[in-house]
Amino acid sequence: MISCLRVMNHTHRLKPTWLFSLKTTISHLVALSNNRVIGVDNDLPWTLKKDLQHFSAYTQNKPIVMGRKTYESIGRPLPNRKNIVISGTMGPSEGLQIVTALNDAILAAESWNAENALENEVVLIGGGYVFRESMELVNKLVLTFVDCDIEGDIFYPEVDLSLWRLTEESSFEQDSENQYNFKVGTYLKN
Ligand SMILES: NC(=O)c1ccc[n+]([C@@H]2O[C@H](COP(=O)([O-])OP(=O)(O)OC[C@H]3O[C@@H](n4cnc5c(N)ncnc54)[C@H](OP(=O)(O)O)[C@@H]3O)[C@@H](O)[C@H]2O)c1
Repeated sequence: MISCLRVMNHTHRLKPTWLFSLKTTISHLVALSNNRVIGVDNDLPWTLKKDLQHFSAYTQNKPIVMGRKTYESIGRPLPNRKNIVISGTMGPSEGLQIVTALNDAILAAESWNAENALENEVVLIGGGYVFRESMELVNKLVLTFVDCDIEGDIFYPEVDLSLWRLTEESSFEQDSENQYNFKVGTYLKN
């Protein structure tokens, strides 16, 4: 297995070295407003049924990594996925693998993919804390752009998408079950 070593020295609570396979796809799966809001009061700021369906379809049979607050907001382990939660405060919980750092989460996800002979993708599903601290590690972005400007308290970091290649895009119209127009774009790092 080819490995890469990274030295991280600027973000607190990260261990100083990273040892992940270069072949691992590390993705962000996130929905953000025009003003980059992703959450409010530890919840999603919108009702978008089709985006939830997209989330569910994208994550099936994959390891998903989330921060403790996102797990609390979801409220239960999601079926047919390996649920990995990063927390320094949670005890063991059925259906979850709890780890205390992002690099441990990615290593746990890689091991699960290897055990299950799956393609090596680790899907980081939030929230803001996890997206911020993983920004320089991700090589795939699956972004839902929600066409609204709203108030919120958690934001997705600024990303220079000129450094990324758009590989897929689809658009969805507002209707009774989808509060806003939105489009989903998949980007790979150049
Ligand atoms: N729009 C979207 O696509 C989307 C997706 C996901 C979440 N959200 C929203 O985002 C919000 C939650 O995000 P958030 O930023 O408040 O919290 P978060 O990232 O979900 O969770 C933060 C917590 O995760 C743990 N954690 C994360 N990184 C860690 C590390 N390196 N080491 C140790 N612990 C670590 C800590 O838990 P402990 O305090 O237990 O140590 C930390 O307090 C909610 O509003 C949610 O609805 C939106």
